[in-house]
Amino acid sequence: MREAIRTRPRYWAVLALVFVVGFGPAACGGAGGDGAATEETGAETTPEPASEAPAAAEVDLPDGVTAEMVAQGKQIFGGVGICFTCHGQSGEGMPNLGANLTDSQWLHSDGSYEGIIATITAGVPAEKSTSGSPMVARGGTNLPDDQIAAVAAYVWTLSR
Ligand code: HEC
Repeated sequence: MREAIRTRPRYWAVLALVFVVGFGPAACGGAGGDGAATEETGAETTPEPASEAPAAAEVDLPDGVTAEMVAQGKQIFGGVGICFTCHGQSGEGMPNLGANLTDSQWLHSDGSYEGIIATITAGVPAEKSTSGSPMVARGGTNLPDDQIAAVAAYVWTLSR
């Protein structure tokens, strides 16, 4: 038992040193433990994907849609368009609220780019909603048509 434990601390000590030296005193909160914390902080950092909508470049976008529109639409979806509040941060949908926009099942249009624009522009009345909740026109925002077109472009890419 003891021996097994004794071989490890050296390893942890080195790791701990690297962390202390690497991150400086500011990162020391809670140090002095037995190294258990190091196990988690040791996780490698996930590489950031290139910022400009990389997925969009891989699919054939509908006529008139550019990768810039998709990127802009993504910002709108998670920002001023407040779509994420009902459809989830990645469009995966939320129980009793917005539909899943990432699957190939379209409840309120044929799922074409034009169809998606039409749904977003008009909204979904409660009696047609499978969740029982309505979606008000433009998600309840004043988004102008060009921004609706952009957010629709982004939604279009989610299921492709
Ligand atoms: C207040 C909640 C709410 C907000 C905000 C909202 N939606 Fe919806 N959305 C819904 C509901 C509810 C439905 C219908 C769900 C159902 O029938 O199950 C829906 C349906 C949709 C559909 C049709 C999906 C299909 O399968 O045909 C699209 C596309 C859509 N929303 C996009 C958007 C976009 C883009 C925004 C932001 C501009 C947005 N929504 C904002 C609640 C919302």
